[in-house]
Amino acid sequence: MKIGVLGSGVVAQTLAAGFLKHGYQVMMGSREPAKLTVWKNANPQGQLGSFSDAATFGEALVLAVKGSAAVEALRLAGSANLAGKAVIDACNPIADAPPDHGVLRLYTTSGQSLMEELQREFPEARFVKAFNSVGSARMVNPQYPGGIRPTMFICGNDGAAKTTVADILEKFGWETADMGSAEAARAIEPLCLLWCIPGFTRNEWTHAFKLLRQ
Ligand SMILES: NC(=O)c1ccc[n+]([C@@H]2O[C@H](COP(=O)([O-])OP(=O)(O)OC[C@H]3O[C@@H](n4cnc5c(N)ncnc54)[C@H](OP(=O)(O)O)[C@@H]3O)[C@@H](O)[C@H]2O)c1
Repeated sequence: MKIGVLGSGVVAQTLAAGFLKHGYQVMMGSREPAKLTVWKNANPQGQLGSFSDAATFGEALVLAVKGSAAVEALRLAGSANLAGKAVIDACNPIADAPPDHGVLRLYTTSGQSLMEELQREFPEARFVKAFNSVGSARMVNPQYPGGIRPTMFICGNDGAAKTTVADILEKFGWETADMGSAEAARAIEPLCLLWCIPGFTRNEWTHAFKLLRQ
């Protein structure tokens, strides 16, 4: 499967390398693909292009850009190039304000999420929230004592897209907890605030969430 990764930051670079490791074809998209030369040298099979090139290339897409720039990045990608495709949305709507006692702020409110906004703006795309509530260093095949798989909370309106993403998560060493429709992003996006608190307050960045069931 061909994956188009929209973004050039640490999340985009990590996930793009992870997809290559698992045998996918990958193109990363940026407004300035030239700044990804170091990544390209380390990942020679990976391709680089514009947001539009990467969206055209991918049969499924990853969106990993600054939350407040997500709509703009998708406009640059081209709505026709998103149509019918699963779009893994790793973005968080983090405000620019500094953390308060380790707690970041979102610019969204409890009754609306970034992913719902994206789904409204680009109705033909099949957004699935994933990878937003763990640090980039633990996104691909994280290792925990006893081989325990951490839980990735996902949501989205399209069942087939969520199956595609669950298959990817399985390969990337995660168990999937499907929280339902796009509205569940109102709960999943704020998990990034919780995840970051041990980091900002105790410099602990290696944890991941696990849902226990009985
Ligand atoms: N860092 C983490 O460990 C982590 C973990 C989970 C989730 N997340 C979330 O994942 C997303 C990516 O995080 P990141 O740290 O890798 O990168 P980032 O620094 O948050 O974002 C960089 C990306 O945003 C794009 N961007 C910025 N302004 C733009 C604009 N005006 N128009 C279009 N694109 C614009 C950049 O595009 P260009 O390439 O064109 O410059 C670049 O690809 C964020 O939403 C973040 O909250 C991060």
